[in-house]
Amino acid sequence: MVKICCIGAGYVGGPTMAVIAWKCPSVEVVVVDISVSRIAAWNSDQLPIYEPGLDEVVKQCRGKNLFFSADIEKHVSEADIIFVSVNTPTKTQGLGAGKAADLTYWESAARMIADVSKSSKIVVEKSTVPVKTAEAIEKILTHNSRGIKYQILSNPEFLAEGTAIQDLFNPERVLIGGRETPDGQKAIQALKDVYAQWVPEDRIISTNLWSAELSKLAANAFLAQRISSVNAMSALCEATGADVSQVSHAVGMDTRIGPKFLNASVGFGGSCFQKDILNLVYICECNGLPQVANYWKQVIKINDYQKNRFVNRLVSSMFNTVSGKKIAILGFAFKKDTGDTRETPAIDVCKGLLGDKACLSIYDPQVTEDQIQRDLSMNKFNWDHPIHLQPISPSSVKQVSVVWDAYEATKDAHGVCILTEWDEFKTLDYQRIFDNMQKPAFVFDGRNIVNVDKLREIGFIVYSMGKPLDPWLKDMPAVA
Ligand code: NAD
Ligand code: UDX
Repeated sequence: MVKICCIGAGYVGGPTMAVIAWKCPSVEVVVVDISVSRIAAWNSDQLPIYEPGLDEVVKQCRGKNLFFSADIEKHVSEADIIFVSVNTPTKTQGLGAGKAADLTYWESAARMIADVSKSSKIVVEKSTVPVKTAEAIEKILTHNSRGIKYQILSNPEFLAEGTAIQDLFNPERVLIGGRETPDGQKAIQALKDVYAQWVPEDRIISTNLWSAELSKLAANAFLAQRISSVNAMSALCEATGADVSQVSHAVGMDTRIGPKFLNASVGFGGSCFQKDILNLVYICECNGLPQVANYWKQVIKINDYQKNRFVNRLVSSMFNTVSGKKIAILGFAFKKDTGDTRETPAIDVCKGLLGDKACLSIYDPQVTEDQIQRDLSMNKFNWDHPIHLQPISPSSVKQVSVVWDAYEATKDAHGVCILTEWDEFKTLDYQRIFDNMQKPAFVFDGRNIVNVDKLREIGFIVYSMGKPLDPWLKDMPAVA
């Protein structure tokens, strides 16, 4: 029986290993983590992450060929294939702070593998890492190897949160990078054999190590760039009377461009896009390519501009002040069908509104009050993002209440901000919401999910990203 151990029981390690266990009954999969509470949650009825379909897969396999354990060293030493799926966040201090990936967790995992291994291993980079990380990992492993052989593979993960199980069951591609030596090719084949249990062979592609590492950063940069492109268009649409949904539809019908990932929004969030682009920017700078670095930096700048623009539009529409006004925030997660708030645009928008002394009433079906309070009181790293440079005093969070119902959040509010595209926000009783709000009642739709005409008929003043402006908003000062 092939034994797989995955270091890191997070958003990637947990679901990915659960699907491998489900699809490969003859493989034993153990997921380990330094966080004992996270492991306990994986072993309970309340999994540590919310992901549609995940509960069922875990419940089917747990205790059979899928295990979650805090006994890291035992399972690492017994495994044939070790996936490393630890976090690789942006460095907050020291060399490369605000851009470079922090490989502390990766390095300590690699040192531990070298310390406890007694037999040859295939070590798989599942985390997103800078190009050439495999070389550094190889050095750590082999310098401490005591004669044990390691093959490093890069097998980046392309799942998106909210659709992780679907993406893992039916991946568009599985990418495996390895050394071009006979041993490297043998290791690639061993990992291919695992995926081939359910992924058609023509979707499993192999490359050299550096191409696999860079492809992951490139894919995320391209995806984020599409969103910044359509968001840049949304600003122009508002200035000209064009409708960004119509523009996206027309543009996306060109098969060379394609229709997906062209929804204008208040900005992209999530733990990957910004982090991975910053990482790419840093790598370009380190390789003497400042023009390339600046090109990608612009994707993040437009994303920050979009979040700023949204806040400015809201404040200027409401007579240039939201001081003391109740603003309902519908949605805090960075996208629907997840409780993840890492880099969610809601943090920046809420901080912007708090900076203008608004009182926020926040509702998200999957995000806890604790998480929201923590997110709003935490300081982010200071890169050249204008929005991140606004200091927020710790007392601001007292202006925040978190409620468990959209109607409660909107009661007596002056304005409603939709920041996550949860399906339930599409079918709310907006007449009821209008009746219980202060007048004039505003809706600022950062996800373009409401029926603008219907809401205007009810009496709302509606702002929807990139849509022709409400006559009310046209009369307000221009927003830059
Ligand atoms: P996460 O923070 O949810 O999980 C990482 C886990 O690793 C944590 O539970 C942490 O306790 C554990 N860990 C850290 N150091 C450890 C160590 N030395 N030993 C054992 N456990 C350790 O992160 P994530 O979202 O799962 O992302 C993991 C990696 O995958 C990142 O590099 C990320 O960029 C990449 N990725 C994430 C996504 C996504 O959608 N979240 C998608 C593709 C790729
Ligand atoms: C992303 C990549 O899609 C995935 O392949 C990679 O493995 C991890 O990073 P994720 O961040 O989980 O996945 O979600 P994604 O669906 O890509 O959305 C990212 C952000 O972009 C969200 O805030 C989302 O709301 C936003 N978005 C997405 C838009 O604003 N408009 C779009 O058209 C699509």
